[in-house]
Amino acid sequence: MNTRNLITNLILIVVLAANLIGQDKTDNASQKTLKEAYAGKFLIGTASDLNGLSEAELNNVKEQYDVLTPENCMKPQPLHPWETFYNFGRADSLVEWCQQNDVKIWGHTLAWHAQTAPWFFQAENPINEETTSLPKPRRRNWDPNAPRLTMAEYWRRSITGEMASREVALERLEKHIKTVVGRYKGQIIGWDVFNESIADSGDCTTENLRDWSWYSVVGPDVLTKAFQWAHEADPDAQLYYNDYNIEQGAVENKGKHASSMVLLKRLIDEGAPITGVGIQGHWHLDTDLADVEKAIENYASLGLRVAITELDVTATGDNSGAFGVRQGDRTIPEENYQKQAEVYKALFEIFMRHADVIDRVTFWGVSDSRSWRWGQDALIFDGELNPKPAFKAIIDVSSK
Ligand code: GLA
Repeated sequence: MNTRNLITNLILIVVLAANLIGQDKTDNASQKTLKEAYAGKFLIGTASDLNGLSEAELNNVKEQYDVLTPENCMKPQPLHPWETFYNFGRADSLVEWCQQNDVKIWGHTLAWHAQTAPWFFQAENPINEETTSLPKPRRRNWDPNAPRLTMAEYWRRSITGEMASREVALERLEKHIKTVVGRYKGQIIGWDVFNESIADSGDCTTENLRDWSWYSVVGPDVLTKAFQWAHEADPDAQLYYNDYNIEQGAVENKGKHASSMVLLKRLIDEGAPITGVGIQGHWHLDTDLADVEKAIENYASLGLRVAITELDVTATGDNSGAFGVRQGDRTIPEENYQKQAEVYKALFEIFMRHADVIDRVTFWGVSDSRSWRWGQDALIFDGELNPKPAFKAIIDVSSK
């Protein structure tokens, strides 16, 4: 081999080696788990009750995530279906599994208008104190010509007999919150205290609270009191207000965002021990990302921490915190998954820019087959737990 060839070969070897090292670096980066990638920035979470998860899914939860939100079992209805009966079984098992596997727990949710048993609001709960059975479902008359009920009317119909007084309802909520938060004191890092209090359309200049459930039986001060009771029961727990679409209108200070600012300012003024605000993050391919960023900035300007609490970005159709959205095409074109990866990437770039105020980013489900948006492929692992393009995009953002 002459000197020229030797030099050419040497250069080739150096270039090849550099490529291999580069390749290795990329592979290593994409092999990082979510929680490794975002360590020191914010916690990464997922949501599940854990029941029925396969070994592979359980492994995925402990490998990828710092924190778990119980999807249903700590909501008022499943946890406290009747005044004299708490159903702690599933929640206790979840807490035990998380402790054994070094996964933190986020409590969801102490008070809500949905998934809350009617007994909280009934003047009388005529049931034998000894019984632990659930109230019987009442027969419904499915008359197609019946006028459509408003949510408030529908809810009123679920209540048997007279409505409880404000005092009685408050006493029940206080007991519920103190019992539940007290039971898991020191074991749960924080709670969504109130969920989804703001109605979907309003004048943007008021809190625009829903006109039924806790808000009609007690009134707006129910939120402040709930925060105080939760704080008394576990002074170290972080306490959040959680809602969907509350980023909408942030850039122009309109819509649900404007209402959320009015509500949060009032809670702070009234001395509610509130740590932060949970933006649920049920988003889609055309979500307005400027609103997301501005909402985070606005909440931080109130001195609040922020979490993204129920993140999913549908690969087809709409998304929102409410049920019944347009679901989109059943067959999802490949390019939608690329678009989905871009949206997730842009979102995590925003989260990284505001990592100093963000505590936690939680995905609402373990995989596309464990999602309330089933069929819209909104998560970052497919039904077989394979990482989707969005997974890699999110990992890549962490190393920038
Ligand atoms: C809301 C609630 C969640 C869950 C979803 C649907 O976002 O906060 O607990 O019920 O709706 O899964």
